[in-house]
Amino acid sequence: MGSNMIHYLLRTYPDVEILNFDGLTYAGNLESLADVADDPRYTFVKGNIADAEAVDKVVEGVDLVINYAAETHVDRSILEPKAFIDTNVYGVYNLLEAVRKHKTPRFVQVSTDEVFGAVMEGESDEGSKFEPRSPYSASKAAGDHLCQAYAITYGVPVIVTHSCNFYGPYQFPEKLIPLFTMNLLEGKKVPVYGDGMQVREWIFTEDHCRAIDLIAHKGNPGEVYNIGTGYRVPNIEVTKKMIELTGRGEEAIEYVADRPGHDRRYAINSNKLRNELGWEPRVSFEEGLAQTVAWYKQNQAWVDRCRTGAYKEYYEKQYKNRV
Ligand code: TYD
Repeated sequence: MGSNMIHYLLRTYPDVEILNFDGLTYAGNLESLADVADDPRYTFVKGNIADAEAVDKVVEGVDLVINYAAETHVDRSILEPKAFIDTNVYGVYNLLEAVRKHKTPRFVQVSTDEVFGAVMEGESDEGSKFEPRSPYSASKAAGDHLCQAYAITYGVPVIVTHSCNFYGPYQFPEKLIPLFTMNLLEGKKVPVYGDGMQVREWIFTEDHCRAIDLIAHKGNPGEVYNIGTGYRVPNIEVTKKMIELTGRGEEAIEYVADRPGHDRRYAINSNKLRNELGWEPRVSFEEGLAQTVAWYKQNQAWVDRCRTGAYKEYYEKQYKNRV
């Protein structure tokens, strides 16, 4: 998702200078930014936020740090949690230390509504209690707590954002929307976990980028902002919309074993962002989903590049656990 933000910033600000610090782990793909590689405003540095020395070097002298670096996939966190602690906890600690030392004017920590756990009714607001239930969400909650603690203890100007699920171009094909899109386009089945009635709230990447931009420039340091659209649907409905967009039939649906500890519903209250900073989403789910499916249709080579390395091994393990 960081690559969407880089595209957005280069498009929006003619004078911006971007330093992209990326570990290029399995979900990273340099081809996502091949079109801007020669832009003089853009510099790429390979490195992992778990490496304190490297983080210190890249943070020195910048005006703003936005942290998109994270291990994000719940199913992977269930299989192998360690990388989640290294990146999402220790990596955030390294960033906070570097921001503190270099007196960076602003740090935005991009986080998730999953820290609030399953919300069976109503909505989570910025003050809701953290009740993470997967290794992934626990690691993000720990990083977010560190941000709050650094803001209070050291006055580090960090802002934490909790977003609902995002989707759009360049998303690694392991998440629901890109995985199902590719499976459907390739004539394969789609593995719906459990009864498919789990509810997620969805935001298109472009809307998320605008929210982060606004928060980075107008948000109050030390505060927390939720980012959400209010568009909440069960997974099976999302699946059926994708089936329609790709011209497949409902026989493509394969119900498989549920994810252990699967959060039944997320719902985030984003009134603070809307009322205080004047943000609102612009892209409807229908529009965003159609754009996303069209993008994946045109970018098979990018998807194939993502599927190199340990991708197959992961899917074999993952699928074996489900069917
Ligand atoms: P995902 O994209 O992994 O995001 P998250 O778990 O962080 O919300 O999953 C979105 C929803 O889709 C979630 O309820 C799990 C479900 N899901 C499936 O049913 N099948 C799948 O193969 C995947 C990846 C997810």
